[in-house]
Amino acid sequence: IQETLVLVKPDGVARNLIGEILRRIEAKGYSVTDLRMVEADRGLLEQHYEEHVGKPFYEPLVEFMQSGPVVAVRVAGQRVIEGFRSLAGATDPTVAAPGTIRGDFGRDWGLRVQQNLVHGSDSPESAARELALWFR
Ligand code: GTP
Ligand code: MG
Repeated sequence: IQETLVLVKPDGVARNLIGEILRRIEAKGYSVTDLRMVEADRGLLEQHYEEHVGKPFYEPLVEFMQSGPVVAVRVAGQRVIEGFRSLAGATDPTVAAPGTIRGDFGRDWGLRVQQNLVHGSDSPESAARELALWFR
């Protein structure tokens, strides 16, 4: 059985969408196997987002992720990595398909970073690395 790391980002927590997001994960048939609320520090976020160092949205992203608590969730299920990314929808919430988390609840707020409610690991290697960071 595969595992992935889901983060409910600070905008998702502030907008009281934790339950809705977990509901969609469980409705799909995936299992929440660990969960914690975290005020992420810069060091953790630098490691989490190391692939994005140097991109124009990197600094606003790391700042945004420190703007409030996030909920880190370990989710298990068959092909859950692709499955959760399908539930989340496209990175840009303006064009994310309706029916997805980002498509139903996200929009462009005109800020320097996409406030798109959730993160999901994008490969088995990322999932293993990210789960070790957030659930050490
Ligand atoms: P995550 O599940 O959060 O990793 O999203 P993703 O895999 O769909 O996107 P990616 O890993 O490429 O980028 C990580 C995060 O950076 C995104 O979720 C956005 O919050 C932000 N981001 C990515 N690309 C852009 C961009 O082109 N512009 C802006 N403003 N933010 C971006
Ligand atoms: Mg990503």
